[in-house]
Amino acid sequence: MSLMVRNLAKRYGDMTVFSNVSLEVAEGEFVAIVGESGVGKSTLLNCMAGLDTWDEGSVILGGQDLSLLDDDQRALMRRRQVGFVFQAFHVLPHLDVAQNVALPLMLLGEPDDGRVEQMLQAVGLQGLGARLPQQLSGGQLQRVAIARALIHRPILLLADEPTGNLDPGTAAKVMDVLISRTRERGASLVLVTHSEAAAARADRVLLLTSEGMTERLRAH
Ligand SMILES: Nc1ncnc2c1ncn2[C@@H]1O[C@H](COP(=O)(O)OP(=O)(O)OP(=O)(O)O)[C@@H](O)[C@H]1O
Ligand SMILES: [Mg+2]
Repeated sequence: MSLMVRNLAKRYGDMTVFSNVSLEVAEGEFVAIVGESGVGKSTLLNCMAGLDTWDEGSVILGGQDLSLLDDDQRALMRRRQVGFVFQAFHVLPHLDVAQNVALPLMLLGEPDDGRVEQMLQAVGLQGLGARLPQQLSGGQLQRVAIARALIHRPILLLADEPTGNLDPGTAAKVMDVLISRTRERGASLVLVTHSEAAAARADRVLLLTSEGMTERLRAH
């Protein structure tokens, strides 16, 4: 799904988090967003999903201006077309791992068809479906969040530091899953990351500063 952000500004009272943020992500493109801690990367990603509000500018998903949709319409669009990996996971504590991963399918009324077990396997959590989140490590929880974001085959995946809690080997494997599961369906991927190794795999790398967004040129 194409994504367009035009002159976006976000403020809390007198404090401007960012302004003049513009970017485009084409269908099937993989774009990484980097920038200092606190510069507004998570905030921007939330705006892209219509999970947060902004003060100026527009966000257009698949040709649809999000500000023209009401809350229900935005929720429906997210549910069907968008996968979101939250920086803080947002795994539901009272559901086991398999139920957490299956949640997007349940909301859509789609059958599991073995997809949950297969997805758990893909992120290296095979056999852990019956565990509760409190019985998992931080890196395992992160992979639950990633499996849940991919299970309904979204055409746009927004991932906030999805490898932040993982060792380099597991991080590389999880990036393989994120990239293959989006590429094979022509889905777009927007990845917020502090990891140079993860950013290096993107088609383009964008740098967010308080003044706006710039394209980071590659060394090679
Ligand atoms: N509810 C709020 N009220 C006031 N300021 C807020 C609020 N939520 C976030 N902020 C501020 O907005 C800024 C952007 O936060 P955000 O979480 O988007 O940063 P980030 O770039 O994702 O950082 P990190 O790399 O550490 O995850 C921060 O300076 C934060 O303190
Ligand atoms: Mg963040």
